[in-house]
Amino acid sequence: MCGIVGYIGKADATSVLINGLRRLEYRGYDSAGLAILDGDRVLISKSPGKVANLKEQTRLAWSPELCHRVGTGIAHTRWATHGPPTEVNAHPHLDQSEDIALVHNGIIENYRPIRARLEGIGHHFYSETDTEVLAHLIGECDKGDLFQAVCDALHQVKGTFGIAVLSAREPGKIITARRGSPIVIGVGDGETIIASDASAIVAHTQRVVYLDDNDIAIVTADSVEIRDLNNVPVTREIAELGIDAAAAEKGGFGHFMLKEIHEQPESLGNAIRGRLDMDLGSSVLAGMGTSPRDLAELNRVVLVGCGTSLHAGLVGEYAFEDMADVHAEVEQAAEFRYRNPLLGSRDFVIAISQSGETADTLAAVREAKQKGAFVMSLCNVVGSTIARETGRGVYLHAGPEISVASTKAFTSQVAVLLMMALKLGRGRRLSLDEGNRFAKEIEAIPALVGRVILQSARIAELAKEYYQAQHAFFIGRGPMYPVALEGALKLKEISYIHAEGYHAAELKHGPIALLEKGTPIIALACDIPGKDKTLGNIEECRARGARILGIITEGDDEAAEYMDDYIAIPRSNALVSTIPAVVALQLFAYHVANLRGCEIDQPRNLAKSVTVE
Ligand code: M6R
Repeated sequence: MCGIVGYIGKADATSVLINGLRRLEYRGYDSAGLAILDGDRVLISKSPGKVANLKEQTRLAWSPELCHRVGTGIAHTRWATHGPPTEVNAHPHLDQSEDIALVHNGIIENYRPIRARLEGIGHHFYSETDTEVLAHLIGECDKGDLFQAVCDALHQVKGTFGIAVLSAREPGKIITARRGSPIVIGVGDGETIIASDASAIVAHTQRVVYLDDNDIAIVTADSVEIRDLNNVPVTREIAELGIDAAAAEKGGFGHFMLKEIHEQPESLGNAIRGRLDMDLGSSVLAGMGTSPRDLAELNRVVLVGCGTSLHAGLVGEYAFEDMADVHAEVEQAAEFRYRNPLLGSRDFVIAISQSGETADTLAAVREAKQKGAFVMSLCNVVGSTIARETGRGVYLHAGPEISVASTKAFTSQVAVLLMMALKLGRGRRLSLDEGNRFAKEIEAIPALVGRVILQSARIAELAKEYYQAQHAFFIGRGPMYPVALEGALKLKEISYIHAEGYHAAELKHGPIALLEKGTPIIALACDIPGKDKTLGNIEECRARGARILGIITEGDDEAAEYMDDYIAIPRSNALVSTIPAVVALQLFAYHVANLRGCEIDQPRNLAKSVTVE
């Protein structure tokens, strides 16, 4: 959602801040701003829209010397929550004295009474934001020690924050703190970079410190001193980022989304490599932290997540029940956290999140831990809050996913869930032979996906027949039902075509009323159990004039007969074929959106990581 960058060191602060904001652009935002120290004053530049607008506006408003001033600054990209995306609502915000500047991610829930109280003692506010209220509160608390002022102010607020604060009265330092909104500090050589996301740091250093909730740090060019909000020192280890700066570039592709779709043979290889044990017909996922006894006594698997991660969980549900003979259920994380779920120590809760920062999924993790469940996570971002708070789980190793529409994270999530199901299955009911066969199917996934990607040009041609549609329906059965949901989500989020995913049997219970001549039905009709029934449902749609695009198994002439158009994927086990099938739908959505001229990597209104409820 919003993004924070702070810099203190030997380089030109404005350029570092703008480059850092650019690295955060993928997260989605609607305005941007920055503040630097200029002697005894704070200079601010803000703009609605893109970081490029902010850069141009700053160049026009500031002298070249100021634009290249070595020193200290903070910057922000905003995803509007309180007040529209205008210049005045953009961060940084100043306190009443205009000496203190603040950038903030999160939501201050009790900002209204604080604002009223401050207005009562003469404060004047320009914006509609909760952040400006926090800036004024810090200023009000400042009695000559910025660190203490920030602590005192944060003691008075309810809600979530990741913040960076600078003051013209105390140059040479930035105060940063977090509760519920990530802050990572890059420790460079004579420079320190603060960010809400490591992608803004990789160009400077690989050495980082992650703040935990209620940590507050005094950052200078050469030091990072971390305490808690009661001023008690805390120790946080320096970690290695392990992200290649080049991985955050488009590498010759027109969009990050297309690049990430093409990366999937490699990202899947990274997820699977070294995690299959062919001798045991099982998987090696030490991070799950389970003993043979845990597996034998396991009562239930509960998978929680949001959006695409939720859809991966739905595939996992089929896998756990089929392979491991264990009751599995999937729940939208926001619902789970408020439903007072029944959980015990023999229930595995698996939190699925690419970013590891999604607010609802994090809250679900905390609820499950509170209830004594065996909680683990499946995250892509190393060191993310969910990964750290669960303390056990499996990383996807998919590399940075920049496109807002998730692609390679989904396929890696499914691959890891299949390996988890294999491990549980071998601990419970699968024979060595069965385990071995399934392990071999999983091992083949990267190659299967490579064969689908080779069809990209053909899928681009097919997209020409569909890109002007206003509505589309995606249908599937069994493990292909969540693939239908994911295909519909991909199409709607990047092309803005209204798309719905349904169980193939469900159309006739209502949605079929919407079919007209030419309405696209994208049918997951691979040669897996249930195919015949799906073909019957396709007939019902054809009879009403729908145009059918099938995802079928290579060489399945019977299924091809039912389709106006089709994309063929290689034959594999039903669970495994969800992965090549979804890759075909990712390519379809991409090419449709491209033909419609959409802003594919940053669709309107969306953010990469949803850190508010
Ligand atoms: O980072 P997470 O996996 O927790 O994110 C969950 C959803 O916000 C995310 O999958 C979202 O639905 C994507 N835009 C889908 O492409």
